[in-house]
Amino acid sequence: MIEFPKEFLWGTATSAYQVEGNNLNSDWWEWEKMVGLKERSGLACRHYELYAEDFDLAHRLNHNAHRFSIEWSRIEPQEYQFAPKEIQHYKEILIALRERNLEPIVTLHHFTLPLWFARQNGWLNKKAQFYFLRYVETIVSSLCPYVHYWVTINEPLVYIYNAYISGIWPPQERSIFKAKIVLDNLTSAHLGAYKTIKQIYKDRGLNPPSISIAKHLREFISTDNNPCHCFTAFFKDYVFNSRLLNNLISLKYLDFIGINYYTCEFTPGPGKKFQDIQRSNLGWPIYPGGLFYLLLRLKRYNLPIFILENGISSDDDQQRWDFISGHLKVLYEAMQQGVRIWGYLYWSLLDNFEWEKGFGPRFGLIEMDYKSYRRNIRGSAEKLAEVFRTGRL
Ligand code: BGC
Repeated sequence: MIEFPKEFLWGTATSAYQVEGNNLNSDWWEWEKMVGLKERSGLACRHYELYAEDFDLAHRLNHNAHRFSIEWSRIEPQEYQFAPKEIQHYKEILIALRERNLEPIVTLHHFTLPLWFARQNGWLNKKAQFYFLRYVETIVSSLCPYVHYWVTINEPLVYIYNAYISGIWPPQERSIFKAKIVLDNLTSAHLGAYKTIKQIYKDRGLNPPSISIAKHLREFISTDNNPCHCFTAFFKDYVFNSRLLNNLISLKYLDFIGINYYTCEFTPGPGKKFQDIQRSNLGWPIYPGGLFYLLLRLKRYNLPIFILENGISSDDDQQRWDFISGHLKVLYEAMQQGVRIWGYLYWSLLDNFEWEKGFGPRFGLIEMDYKSYRRNIRGSAEKLAEVFRTGRL
């Protein structure tokens, strides 16, 4: 039988732009309009107004943790004009979580930017770190009494790839040169934020917080012995999985390793061995084994690990449950091998706005009816609630 530790943190993750609705001052809002995105974020899940109801559901489903992000463009809608009302909003969110015994994990940057910052070249700007830290200082000073876990930046390399290499996200650049500048700026933004947050807690006499980034990891598999393919898989693994983490960990600027894991990637293709692999409805291979290997590799860093996202878009709820239970099993196996894991957050609490893909993909434990905004609890959510209640699978 599989039994998780009593103190394990269990819950889900969301991001502001994908669930709140009406983020009028964000670069994405403008971009959606500009490119005429078929499904625009609009009211999203109306979570900005309905958060208390959503947290009631999470509580009812035995969650004891919840990850969400702060929308920078709400806190600072115009350059250097902070909005006290919005800061208060996030304070109320934190109080609502604490009242329901949900431990908050707070992300400071999850892909979207204030429009004023994007108009000044966003993360390419020499002053990017300065702007980000001014926001971090403001928001963390107000929210620190309620938060222990901070995530500075969500998936820096996914953001860079989509916004500066493949160019499918704003600002739709395709330049390795610019991508490198953005990587350097995001890295220094993280380092600066880490120091800033620690200092604020110290000055206030609060217990030191735990800080990480959310690092998207993917298992890269070469499916034949062709040296070119093996090298490609190895190289992608180094650039995408290892380089940034090595860097931050060697500088001692991570207190735990926050991981987002969804899928694996084959070079050159699935080959014979993986030709029958199951896929999500977005075509992503389902491969819990990849998470197992990655976790064992992370053991050498000797830092606790927190699964900050793991999820599937599916129209078949049985497939969602198989995905979740498959990943929980390997999590447990990795723990048996001595990997230290603090918790597991499923992506996502609700179906939500899946960026350029709109509302089609369904990742939620809770189904959204986008006409009535009614929330319907899926069977997988109930099954997971039992795991959360008993710690057993
Ligand atoms: C991101 C989420 C996204 C999810 C599913 C993660 O990489 O953090 O914002 O919705 O993947 O694609």
